[in-house]
Amino acid sequence: MNVNNIIMFIRNRLYNLFPVINISSKATSKGSLFTTSTDILTDKGTSDAASRDILTDKGNPDHGSTVNEAEVNKFKVLAEQWWQENGDFKALHEMNRLRVPLVRDAMMKYLSDTTDKTPVLTHPLKGISILDVGCGGGILAEPLARLGADVTGIDACEEGVEVARLHADPELDNLKYIHSTVEDHALTNVRYDAVISSEVIEHVDNPQLFIKVISEMIKPRGSLFLTTLNRSMQSWLGAIIAAEYILRIVPAGTHDWNKFIAPDELQLMVENHGFHVKLIHGMAYMPGFNKWMWTKNTGINYALHAVKLAQQ
Ligand SMILES: C[S@@+](CC[C@H](N)C(=O)[O-])C[C@H]1O[C@@H](n2cnc3c(N)ncnc32)[C@H](O)[C@@H]1O
Repeated sequence: MNVNNIIMFIRNRLYNLFPVINISSKATSKGSLFTTSTDILTDKGTSDAASRDILTDKGNPDHGSTVNEAEVNKFKVLAEQWWQENGDFKALHEMNRLRVPLVRDAMMKYLSDTTDKTPVLTHPLKGISILDVGCGGGILAEPLARLGADVTGIDACEEGVEVARLHADPELDNLKYIHSTVEDHALTNVRYDAVISSEVIEHVDNPQLFIKVISEMIKPRGSLFLTTLNRSMQSWLGAIIAAEYILRIVPAGTHDWNKFIAPDELQLMVENHGFHVKLIHGMAYMPGFNKWMWTKNTGINYALHAVKLAQQ
């Protein structure tokens, strides 16, 4: 039995189990769930970057919009879930355990490298400006603001932004939310010490434009933090089949596997816009315990931290 036959066999079994999943029958087409690229059968994900539309036609970084209305509508429907303790965003809340310290530690180092200010113990990010792109209900923006950073959260979904505003502590006057796409916000010409976009790029159209626009809003030596999902067989099984259809960690249809981005593709995109990638690290979720852990395995979820080169 060759690889194609094995894949066709699994495909047919899965289709019988989960007929709701749209499985392409073109086993060899690029971007199909069953592409025969050997890379997607590994943890690494495809490195066949040039064949992906994110780096070719649809990915033209010079014009267009990053907004995919269907994707944004998914979050409109879920807007009231943002702060439900056991709701659909439970795993995102818990992800703060990894991403908040990642941002805090990197930005404290940036503060000490670029200024002679002594960090305020209770507000170690005081003096840092952060843009949270695709902030949703403010799950990540809030703790970063509590650490003292001046945080601006933007989101293309008006309902999410409204929830975020209502939830914010009125005493946190260093936190604000704007209903905006990333490309529109870039027109304000405001520059930030850091931009973070967590679990967003896999929902946008034209990820190249998304990265280009984001990179323009970061000061030289500033940081870019991204978390997203790899496009690998492991992520298809873990993040789509298991998380959406078996364990129901997030609603079925939340993710489109074809929009996932392999770490090497993302690294290339970021480097093409004048960044040095400091780390790419896997993140593993244990559903039964609702816990995230750092892992070397970038096969499903991963985080990227990159620093903008000084001469930009
Ligand atoms: C999975 S949620 C992540 C929310 C938040 N970053 C977090 O981790 O808690 C994805 C968010 O991205 C937003 N979004 C999708 N496309 C966008 C775009 N082109 N520009 C700005 N926000 C976008 C959605 O409306 C949604 O709120």
